[in-house]
Amino acid sequence: MIIARTPEELRAARDALGPVSFVPTMGALHAGHIALIEAAKAAGLPVAASIFVNPTQFGPKEDFARYPRDEAGDIDQLEKAGCALVWLPSADIMYPPKSATSIMLLGPALHWEGTARPGHFSGVATVVAKLFSQVRPATAYFGEKDWQQVQVVSRMVADLCLPVEIVPVPTVREVDGLALSSRNRYLSPPERKAAPRLYTALTRAAQDILAGKEVAATLHHARQELALAGMVPDYVALVHANTLEPISGLVRPARLIAAAKLGNVRLLDNVAVG
Ligand code: PAJ
Repeated sequence: MIIARTPEELRAARDALGPVSFVPTMGALHAGHIALIEAAKAAGLPVAASIFVNPTQFGPKEDFARYPRDEAGDIDQLEKAGCALVWLPSADIMYPPKSATSIMLLGPALHWEGTARPGHFSGVATVVAKLFSQVRPATAYFGEKDWQQVQVVSRMVADLCLPVEIVPVPTVREVDGLALSSRNRYLSPPERKAAPRLYTALTRAAQDILAGKEVAATLHHARQELALAGMVPDYVALVHANTLEPISGLVRPARLIAAAKLGNVRLLDNVAVG
């Protein structure tokens, strides 16, 4: 596996490998990230991953400083997963001192995480666009775990005519249903036990909506279930799967999305409806 830390090293790797699939990450890798590598590998091109904890997508009160970092362990996992290249840029490479450009988003970025975390998606879109320009992949793999992120990135790629195909990959879960996340390690044992109830509430709500139950009542019930599990729900919503606009009845494609605070950890999940 080639390890590139400078633009020169990345250019040499690109020349050596030819067209690649790309998996951007912030490190602290788990089986969810590795599933993206596997999906990319299965499509046939050499796989490039990146690890960069992107400061611009964290709010001032968020966990940038304490975001888990384990470069050696991550490199080891990527190597074992059969990655051909890992791109490890420094903050100065990603954001040179006189940087004055960022991407402004409307549409799917305006809702939900966009409201809860002002500036978050602009930071994501800006860093992803930079990573695409550096790595120049043919395809890029994103997890459905962050459903809204996939829609925001897909919208940006279409709007900016970026020559990359975005491929969504299903969420990898623990056996009890909890979606794998780098932040799950911050759950206390009782919180860890309660955490899968987010997924349970969402799957039950999806079944109820498909069975014809009223949407508003179903969402209300799901929020109550989260509260009973000790969570503070931020939102539970039925949305158009691509625009992220809330919908009051079942139109397809639809997605149920939710965010809830459990202790100090903000859990995020979503399921298909139909
Ligand atoms: P990060 O949180 O490290 O996630 C990297 C990729 O792994 C994302 O596409 C995310 O959706 C996917 N992923 C995380 N948990 C997953 C799970 N349980 N199942 C499937 N996929 C999962 O998302 C980011 O980093 C950043 O915003 C980034 C796109 C790298 C830009 O900085």
